Amino acid sequence: MGRVALVTGGSRGIGEAISKALKDAGHTVAATYAGNDEKAAAFTAETGIKTYKWNVADYDASAAGIAEVEADLGPIEIVIANAGITRDAPFHKMTPEQWNEVIGTNLTGVFNTVHPIWPGMRERKFGRVVVISSINGQKGQFAQVNYAATKAGDLGIVKSLAQEGARAGITANAVCPGYIATEMVMAVPEKVRESIIAQIPAGRLGEPEEIARCVTFLASDDAGFINGSTISANGAQFFS
Ligand code: CAA
Repeated sequence: MGRVALVTGGSRGIGEAISKALKDAGHTVAATYAGNDEKAAAFTAETGIKTYKWNVADYDASAAGIAEVEADLGPIEIVIANAGITRDAPFHKMTPEQWNEVIGTNLTGVFNTVHPIWPGMRERKFGRVVVISSINGQKGQFAQVNYAATKAGDLGIVKSLAQEGARAGITANAVCPGYIATEMVMAVPEKVRESIIAQIPAGRLGEPEEIARCVTFLASDDAGFINGSTISANGAQFFS
C-alpha cells in the first residue's frame, strides 16, 4: 500500500538510497536536505522525488517544513530519521561546538523530526518510525564520543517510542549500519579507512542499498509486529 514517507537527509548517501527504495516500493516520498542545493536539484531531476530544505536541529523549522510536506502530499505515515553528521576528534581535542553540533543534528534532530508527526500518527492509528543509528552507537568509536552518544541515544528513543506507540498501531525501530560506502566514510583518512575495512569480516564496505532494503521492510505494513528492535547491517563487524 502506497503511503506518504518523509526521509530526512534524503537526497544524499544512505538517505538517497532509502528515498529511492521507498519510492520503488510504491510510497510518495519527501526528502529533506540541509545545505547542498545543487545535489538536491540533481536528485529531484533524477528521481522525481520532491526535496525540502530545513535544518533538523531547529524545532520550529522542522515543524514548519513538516506542515508544508503534509499540505503538499498528505499526512506522513512513514518517517525515516536519517539525517546525521560527524565531527570526529579525540576526546581531549573535542570542542563544545563539535559536541553540540552532533547532538543537535543526530539526537535532537530525531526528536524534532518525529515529534510534530507523532500526534497525527496516534490519531490515525498507524505509523512507521525508523531511526538510522550506527554500529558506533552500539560499540563506541575512537574520536566519536559525540557521534556514539547520539547513536546510542537514538536506540533509547526507538525503544521508548515503541512502547508508547504500540497500542496506536505505530512501530519505531532502528537500523544500525556498519561502515557503508558513502561520502561520510570516504571522508575518513584513507589509512584509517583501510584499517577499518580490515576489521570487517565481509571484507568490504556495505552499500547504501543494503541499508535501504532494511528500512523499506521496517516501513512496510508487513512489519507491524516488529517494534523497538534494532537491525544491524555491518558485514559481521559487531554483534550486540
Ligand atoms: N584506535 C586507536 N587509536 C587511534 C585510532 C583508533 N581507531 N584512530 C587514531 N588513533 C590514534 C592514532 O594512531 C594517533 O596515535 P599517535 O598519536 O600515537 O600516533 C592518534 O590516535 C591520533 O591522534 P591525532 O592527534 O593525530 O588525531 P587527530 O586530531 O588528527 O584526529 C582522527 C584524527 C579524527 C581521529 C582521524 O584519525 C579519524 O577521522 N579517524 C576515524 C574516526 C572514525 O572511525 N570515524 C567514523 C566515521 S564514519 C561514520 O561515523 C559512519 C558510521 O556510522 C559508521
